[in-house]
Amino acid sequence: MAATLLDGAAVAREVYSQLGQRVQTLVAAGVRPGLAAIQVGNHAASTIYIRRKVKACAETGVYSEIHQLESDCPESTLLATIDKLNHHRGIHGILLQLPLPQHFDAGRIMQSIAVEKDVDGFNWQNLGALVAGRPRFTPCTPSGIIALLERYEVRIEGRNAVVVGRSTEVGKPMALMLIARSATVSVCNSKTRDLRQFTSIADILVVAAGRPLLVTADMIKPGAAVVDVGINRLPDGRVCGDVDFAGASQVASLLSPVPGGVGPMTVAMVIANTVSAAEHHAQARAA
Ligand code: GUN
Repeated sequence: MAATLLDGAAVAREVYSQLGQRVQTLVAAGVRPGLAAIQVGNHAASTIYIRRKVKACAETGVYSEIHQLESDCPESTLLATIDKLNHHRGIHGILLQLPLPQHFDAGRIMQSIAVEKDVDGFNWQNLGALVAGRPRFTPCTPSGIIALLERYEVRIEGRNAVVVGRSTEVGKPMALMLIARSATVSVCNSKTRDLRQFTSIADILVVAAGRPLLVTADMIKPGAAVVDVGINRLPDGRVCGDVDFAGASQVASLLSPVPGGVGPMTVAMVIANTVSAAEHHAQARAA
């Protein structure tokens, strides 16, 4: 039996329609949500991601602006741009697109984004709030995956969830969000011995390893919900995920495609966090 697709593009459209209504309420109250995206250099994939976020802003009525900096700009220029946006009353969300050129310490620079405008959820205060079980802004890829699973009514509580990948942006926050929903969670990494031993017990399998076709059908528990975060380009130019889609679709009950699965949900969560930030701003103004 072929798996049902976890259709992130369709669910993202539903999210935008709900966000559009919240934006209208804010605008009526005199606050238009605003997102500023900063790109350093011209990494091709980053340009595409930023374009998608700006388009999603336009669709939902969120104001957006792009700050384009040269790849060899000094750190002080980037910090000054962030500082200006931190104090800009019309900007509620700041997004520093990653990866940054090598000479920047991205993790440290992220800390200069105001916590209440950190719509990526990468600031250590926001990550710490997630660890403490008091989430504020949470990283957009894992929160998009949770929204996708919820939309398809995947039960999380009491299930075995396995996350392949332990990045600060995806794997670690994903594990924390699954723990918060009472899953039994294993987090694997590139040094894990016998990956299949873990993946084959997963009712929910999230693969964010950045390794093309790492997970094959024989590693998947029949009936599992499989979420593929990978986006890789094969030598022949084709795009593929970390999961062998054709094989996995014969074993899993739910499977996210690449593209069109997790990617659109990540973008939708950036806009959702920006609207939430603007709502907080509006409430603080009214108080
Ligand atoms: N680069 C790839 N994904 C992301 C993301 O979610 N946020 C940021 N800031 N950069 C990225």
